[in-house]
Amino acid sequence: MSSLLVDNIGELVTNLAGGGEGGPLGIRRRAALLVEAGEVAWVGPARDAPAADRRIDAEGAAVLPGFVDSHAHLVFAGDRAAEFAARMAGQPYTGGGIRTTVGATRAATDDELRVTVRRLRGEALRQGTTTIEIKSGYGLTVADEARSLRIAAEVTPETTFLGAHVVPTEYADRPDDYVGLVCGPMLAAAAPHARWIDVFCERGAFDIDHARAILACGQAVGLGVRVHANQLGPGPGVQLGVELGAASVDHCTHLSDADLDALASTRMDWTSGTETTTVATLLPGAEFSTRSPYPDARRLLDAGVTVALATDCNPGSSYTSSMPFCVALAVREMRMTPAEAVWAATAGGARALRRDDVGVLRPGARADLIILDAPSHLHLAYRPGVPLIRQVLHNGVPQCRP
Ligand code: NIG
Ligand code: FE
Repeated sequence: MSSLLVDNIGELVTNLAGGGEGGPLGIRRRAALLVEAGEVAWVGPARDAPAADRRIDAEGAAVLPGFVDSHAHLVFAGDRAAEFAARMAGQPYTGGGIRTTVGATRAATDDELRVTVRRLRGEALRQGTTTIEIKSGYGLTVADEARSLRIAAEVTPETTFLGAHVVPTEYADRPDDYVGLVCGPMLAAAAPHARWIDVFCERGAFDIDHARAILACGQAVGLGVRVHANQLGPGPGVQLGVELGAASVDHCTHLSDADLDALASTRMDWTSGTETTTVATLLPGAEFSTRSPYPDARRLLDAGVTVALATDCNPGSSYTSSMPFCVALAVREMRMTPAEAVWAATAGGARALRRDDVGVLRPGARADLIILDAPSHLHLAYRPGVPLIRQVLHNGVPQCRP
């Protein structure tokens, strides 16, 4: 079995609490890391590094777990650059443009969708994203939702059925019938290709009763729950997510104290060893691209809520695949420290996907890691917009340099 040593690491972010200098990142200085069979086999001081078949010299740079982007919508056709321009000229974002993308997606061939998914997946990987969740939600017919998930599953195991993104035009005057379709034939066709189910629970999309019914149907066939919640205004989505044991509630831009308390009350169940924390996943690319107020990450963190950062990459509200950009936004605009933001973009995303094999660098974890063109994780926020990802290892395999 061939081994690979990443040596001469100036700052190694392990995300193991108590694993290094203290703080959430578990930082080790002058470290090395051994990779075998796609996994981390050993982590320790560079002076004790074992022999290996191959060696990468990190030249004193920082090494981090690969980013875990736990919220992306990559299966679509067309773009909405004109809608973005109109917003920058003062138009509000309402989510109404989703139907434009639905029309383009339905008209696209499988191969056209596949090319877009692979292009965006590649773009994300070059920026350090080694785990990505991909949702359906721009098909909204049985066949189009099923093929969206099939194509997503070609590039990631983290696939999410979002048939309840909006009520499509042809069902506009009979939303109950659409919910019946989602819970019936659409779920049956989607579930074999999906790990998760999601609903856009918002005024103008799905109300709490419809959202609860759809999520419960998904749970009944074994899908995990996530919710698009409290994005455009206050609403019941966050508390519904907590009630149903969602792995994550996403957006969380408009939160009441009761929403905060509900999130803070969720936690790991140590007696059964099961993770029942509901993570608040913040998507600052959406606030950036819709020119909206950012969620208050500080308030969530100070209340003890587990926070993740993700891109929400989609053609309408957030057309970025860049986790470094989201880290920089979170620090500058959402009052997160650089350490909190880096943790949220790696370990936080892993929690939001209920994964313990990614977002962390310890023996037995996936060998998914980033070597920065910088001496410290601080530079991700300190040097915004700069391509700092020097090298990415995915499953222990060095990817082409960007
Ligand atoms: O997460 N809010 C709902 N869905 C997407 C936006 C989709 C779109 O505008 O096309 C989001 O922001
Ligand atoms: Fe989204």
